[in-house]
Amino acid sequence: MLDINKIRADFPILKRQVHGKPLIYFDNGATSQTPQIVIDTIVDYYTNYNANIHRGVHTLSQEATDKYEEARIKIQQHFNAKHAYEIILTAGTTESVNIVSSGFSSLLKEGDEIIVSALEHHSNIVPWQMMCEKTGAVLRVIPMDEDGSLRLDLFDELLNNKTKLVFCNHVSNALGTINPIEAIIHRAHKFGAYVLIDGAQACPHIKADVQELDVDFYVASAHKMCGPTGVGFLYGKKELLEMLPPYQGGGEMIDTVTFEKTTYAGLPHKFEAGTPNICGGIAFGAAIDYMNAIGFKNIQDRENELLRYATEKLLNIDGLKIYGTTHKTSVISFNIENIHPYDIGSILDKLGIAVRTGHHCAQPIMDFYNIPGTVRASLSFYNTKEEIDFLIESIQKAKMMLS
Ligand code: ALA
Repeated sequence: MLDINKIRADFPILKRQVHGKPLIYFDNGATSQTPQIVIDTIVDYYTNYNANIHRGVHTLSQEATDKYEEARIKIQQHFNAKHAYEIILTAGTTESVNIVSSGFSSLLKEGDEIIVSALEHHSNIVPWQMMCEKTGAVLRVIPMDEDGSLRLDLFDELLNNKTKLVFCNHVSNALGTINPIEAIIHRAHKFGAYVLIDGAQACPHIKADVQELDVDFYVASAHKMCGPTGVGFLYGKKELLEMLPPYQGGGEMIDTVTFEKTTYAGLPHKFEAGTPNICGGIAFGAAIDYMNAIGFKNIQDRENELLRYATEKLLNIDGLKIYGTTHKTSVISFNIENIHPYDIGSILDKLGIAVRTGHHCAQPIMDFYNIPGTVRASLSFYNTKEEIDFLIESIQKAKMMLS
């Protein structure tokens, strides 16, 4: 059993007020909040050992380098990569996806096929469309069902010997659907296709094991799992990262440079040009430690209980429809008949409640349901049933005002 009061005390922001009301933060899908230990890690870095890494013989540079590389190992261990150099530290999930898509732009040819799922975030659609424009490859889509699950039967029909790559999120950001990535990876591999899984929305809830999954690429962001913004990672199998060309040219990604020819550094540096987000990387490591100390089993049990409680109460509201009713994380996307999601979100904000409204960077999902967007309450382990009760009361109030 988690001591929720103790956990909530770890998050200073949860004590603040918004419009004179206690903050109720239900926008964890957009970004999670930051525990004091991660904030302290950031302050400690800038107070005591701010320096550039991999470059200096001086003490500060060595201390910063050691901490940064320790963070890489924490990420490696958390996601169970075989080697630390298979973890590329990036600016976040979007950059990680772009490293892979841009790399494959020079490897694919006209007529090759790639497959994405209907549940993707724009960051896992647009880079592949750009890649298709460059290469002449064809983009295919695994359709979705009314309950927010993927049509795996139709995935089988899309796969063939021309399929080179498959991309799917582990968890849908808009609906919370947990996708059957094991089956997707297994079936894609039978046709020799590589698979990239976007773990941005899974990482706060599920501890993915990249070796057990046998996934080729796995990407995620620190700020979804109690870490800072502006940092994330790309995991790739060694041989695939070696096969891909570098993403950006610059300092630290080289072995030798002359005006005639440059040779590139080995992994992971080949993909880490320029001064990285050093403090962010170190704080990412602290966030992973924080979440593991709570325990992912405890986190899941707690969030599933909150999800059940909130779903039951929300469905008692007349005219409220939840989108995404299949196996999912603690994300509830909903609308109330004849009311625009933005209007509900604005009234909830005045009452101190943070939710996201709109298409959630997943317009194809909204088109599927033929709606402009939804109100999305994304719950975290530090939320409470009392907060959910207040959400329900506030939605009733908003509904009365807007009907
Ligand atoms: N992708 C983030 C979300 O779903 C920003 O809100």
